[in-house]
Amino acid sequence: MLDKELEVTLQKAATDQLKSKPDQDNLGFGQFFTDHMFTMRWDRRQGWHDATIEPYRPFAVDPAAMVFHYGQAIFEGMKAYRGKDDQIFLFRPQDNLSRMNQSALRMCMPRFPQDRILQALRAMVYLDQGWVPRAPGATLYIRPTMIATESALGLRAAEEYLFFIICCPVGAYYAEGFSPTRIYVEDRYARSIPGGAGNVKAAGNYAASLKAQTLAHDKGYAQVLWLDAVEHKYVEEVGSSNIFFLINGEVITPSLEGSILPGITRDSVLQLARDWGYPVKERRISIDEILAAGKDGTLQEGFGTGTAAAISPVGEFCYREERIQINGGVAGALSKRLYDELQAIQFGEREDLHKWRVRVG
Ligand code: COI
Repeated sequence: MLDKELEVTLQKAATDQLKSKPDQDNLGFGQFFTDHMFTMRWDRRQGWHDATIEPYRPFAVDPAAMVFHYGQAIFEGMKAYRGKDDQIFLFRPQDNLSRMNQSALRMCMPRFPQDRILQALRAMVYLDQGWVPRAPGATLYIRPTMIATESALGLRAAEEYLFFIICCPVGAYYAEGFSPTRIYVEDRYARSIPGGAGNVKAAGNYAASLKAQTLAHDKGYAQVLWLDAVEHKYVEEVGSSNIFFLINGEVITPSLEGSILPGITRDSVLQLARDWGYPVKERRISIDEILAAGKDGTLQEGFGTGTAAAISPVGEFCYREERIQINGGVAGALSKRLYDELQAIQFGEREDLHKWRVRVG
């Protein structure tokens, strides 16, 4: 369906449907949802249709909906930021929507008109702008999602889908905030196999990661660092973010070889590090190399990057009961500089050299 053919209708929430807003200083992550949502449906005959911004409400979904049985579900994570003079910005939203269309292709789901959806998203965030937090560092997290809704059993791609966008005001993803996290290196379970779907944002990837994450939590670690599924040797990504290392002055992150999510924050960090003159490498990096760099003192920093987590410094890795402390367990200078710079760009306080910001309204 062509972008211009998709009409979006607006049903504003009535005054008695508006919710009371949560305490901005205790938002946590993903607990509260705004007054409106966006929905649209797809079927083979009509393509995308019934696009609506409407009051937030539960869905009625048939128990036979194919998403429950065969797992066709994809999503994205993006944020809106309130800058000075109450200007509201999105950060690289086109990149999230185009990645979602890549996810749709991989999962045999219909592609959607990105430009129209971005327009609808901007309209919805504008409508719910009172929900974009003012508290320092807090943001409005945006979750576009697509699920298979056709009621049928039997394994094949569904012929009906629901696309929706919901928003929630959030504080820091990790309760620790910008403090260094402790990460458990997983060498038994695997997140993604060559030829699998690890490079797209399929909900099932996250479900399959929970076992290792739960075991790591039980041992006192915040997240898992995944290794490649074939040799259990090369570093891939952390449960909710991409991973970077600063070794001997060089910024290194695992190359995208089909099993790692191509993060938008990852890409922004690569760009900023290059702008600042760091030597930057996207390449395979083994856990043995990290251990060796930890021992000989050249491992200066480790940090995760993601929309939800932003920049999250790593204070310690644990691999087969061996612990590697990084930078004495405190956040490094590069992690801090990246965190500050990205925030400054996202909140409209710094010149937007790469044209990453999109103004709402
Ligand atoms: C994001 O970073 O936005 C994500 O979708 C990660 C998710 C595990 C919260």
